[in-house]
Amino acid sequence: MITLNQLGKTFGTAMAVEDVSLTVPEGAFLVLLGPSGCGKTTILRMLAGLEHPTQGIIRFGDTVVADAGRGFTLEPGRRNAGLVFQSYALWPHMTVSGNVEWPLRVANLNREERRARVAEALEMLGVAKLANRYPGEISGGQQQRVAIARMIAPRPRVLLFDEPLSNLDATLRVEMRTELLRVHRATGATAVYVTHDQIEAMTMATHVAVMNGGKVEQFDTPQRLLSDPASAFVARFIGTPPANLIPVQDGSWFGMMPCAALRGASGHGMIRAEDLMLANAPEPGVIAANLVEVVPMAGRRLVTGLVQGQRLTAVTDPHSPLPADLHFRLPLAAAAIFDVQGRRVI
Ligand SMILES: Nc1ncnc2c1ncn2[C@@H]1O[C@H](COP(=O)(O)OP(=O)(O)OP(=O)(O)O)[C@@H](O)[C@H]1O
Ligand SMILES: [Mg+2]
Repeated sequence: MITLNQLGKTFGTAMAVEDVSLTVPEGAFLVLLGPSGCGKTTILRMLAGLEHPTQGIIRFGDTVVADAGRGFTLEPGRRNAGLVFQSYALWPHMTVSGNVEWPLRVANLNREERRARVAEALEMLGVAKLANRYPGEISGGQQQRVAIARMIAPRPRVLLFDEPLSNLDATLRVEMRTELLRVHRATGATAVYVTHDQIEAMTMATHVAVMNGGKVEQFDTPQRLLSDPASAFVARFIGTPPANLIPVQDGSWFGMMPCAALRGASGHGMIRAEDLMLANAPEPGVIAANLVEVVPMAGRRLVTGLVQGQRLTAVTDPHSPLPADLHFRLPLAAAAIFDVQGRRVI
């Protein structure tokens, strides 16, 4: 449904988005995930038509909506796409229903159709009771629901979200995640959702593009990002807690504990927190650490220690005693090995 073909965007001489190619099917929930400044919003704005690519092609289904080579771009209003930002920007002088009705007026729908669609959208977001209030008279979470109702009322085929939940408190965010997924399924539209929160990405996405410095590091399902990270960057970014990336030199952990499975590599070996064991005393394969923190988590305990300035985290049984002197037992093999550039080699 959405296809990006070698999409690029430069501002002056700065490359904000570089050579991004991916395709998601109709009804997909694509998450653009990555740290601040990696180009997520720029891609979303190009999808909306608010920014024009300097390279590449964007298609919605069979329709080309932007083609930098031909200097072609379809105006935002004709893309059948709805957009919600982090700051939801409701019009303060219009009631809730007035806000939701506005895009329908712009689309020249008749009064009956408008009324039906406003009612449907408010109902779907659970804010029908607030129809006659003004934005200043409802909470932030309610405002965000209204903004989403306003987005879906014209029944767009593409839903674009830019960090829509980041202004909400933790509990409300979790609730709204579920709500958004429900709305997405009910509309059958294809969603593109920008976030730097990997938990949001992992819980909502059918497809994730992990971005770094304007490029896509890995485009995959949430499950495969965890099981099979394509780069050290992805391995560090994904997972709760993320995997340990341990320096490896010439086939030795920390350059001092040789391990045949590292096959002479230099760079980083990945050890998942659940594969790292605690030990009591030094012995072969065991390394001493300085305890940094102990964090209880549902049914388990995270123990983090420092080895040569490197944080290592192990998932442990919350009932097992903590060793008096913290040691980690390194496994016999790494789950993945990355070279010094961070590329996956094994
Ligand atoms: N209008 C602009 N003019 C010049 N540079 C821009 C413009 N918009 C974005 N950039 C730059 O492009 C890069 C990508 O910006 P973008 O807003 O897409 O990042 P982002 O991933 O959305 O970050 P954040 O998570 O902080 O919102 C940044 O380096 C940014 O400074
Ligand atoms: Mg952004």
